[in-house]
Amino acid sequence: MCPPEHFDVQYAINVWMDPARPVDRDLAYRQWRDLRDVYERLGHRVRVLDPLPGLPDMVFAANGSFVVGDHALGARFRELVREPEAPAHRSWLENAGVTVHAPTAVNEGEGDFAWAGTRILAGAGFRSDPAAHADLEATFGVPVVPLELVDPRFYHLDTALAVLDATTIAYYPPAFAPHSRELLAEMYPDAVVATEQDALVLGLNAVSDGRHVVLAEQARDLAGAVAAVGFEPVPVDVSELLKAGGGVKCATLELHRPAPAIIPAST
Ligand code: ARG
Repeated sequence: MCPPEHFDVQYAINVWMDPARPVDRDLAYRQWRDLRDVYERLGHRVRVLDPLPGLPDMVFAANGSFVVGDHALGARFRELVREPEAPAHRSWLENAGVTVHAPTAVNEGEGDFAWAGTRILAGAGFRSDPAAHADLEATFGVPVVPLELVDPRFYHLDTALAVLDATTIAYYPPAFAPHSRELLAEMYPDAVVATEQDALVLGLNAVSDGRHVVLAEQARDLAGAVAAVGFEPVPVDVSELLKAGGGVKCATLELHRPAPAIIPAST
């Protein structure tokens, strides 16, 4: 995670952002700290990336890379205003012993890519280039499922879909092109389907550890729906980040563990 020390809405690179609307940075900071505390209370270790001045969107750490085990695909931002975030992530990861593979196409990291246990769900349509899917395959050697986003309010995959565990997702179908909707319905027949109201508070911009689902407290129906299928919703308020089009998941780059190796039974 990266603290919102320099958080602001100074430009508009998605439909949520209005530079004329003031941002309360202290409130953003308190909400960010509460989110970090929630992860720690749930037993997760949080590592912090130093924020850099002049990068008001750097709090959205999810966009800086995509990491599984000790390999990562570096980001290449669509908008030049965010591009300096990529090398900051790269050096942090390299210092932590992660091999960072250079991207050959635009990709906004975990904003558009979701680790789904044995495969990667990969969004495109607004930010990441579909050509980045080949970079994912080359880096991680797992199947990549391309998904097309069609609604500018849900410009990153993580605004429209959350992976809850290796076999369960929650998503908002109208954010996807018909062929992607069909694919998701086929792959995840028991998915949690979010309402428009939940999607519009970026309720799907959630982080699940397979048991707890940390999500915007405004997404009440979604909290009920994930509870109904056995997860424990953990509501948080990140309303200030919403002014920049981000939420819980955007503020969190997960350091995923690879799927556990299959250990052959001893003979
Ligand atoms: N203002 C940021 C942008 O438009 C928000 C990024 C949100 N991050 C995310 N993972 N969806 O780039």
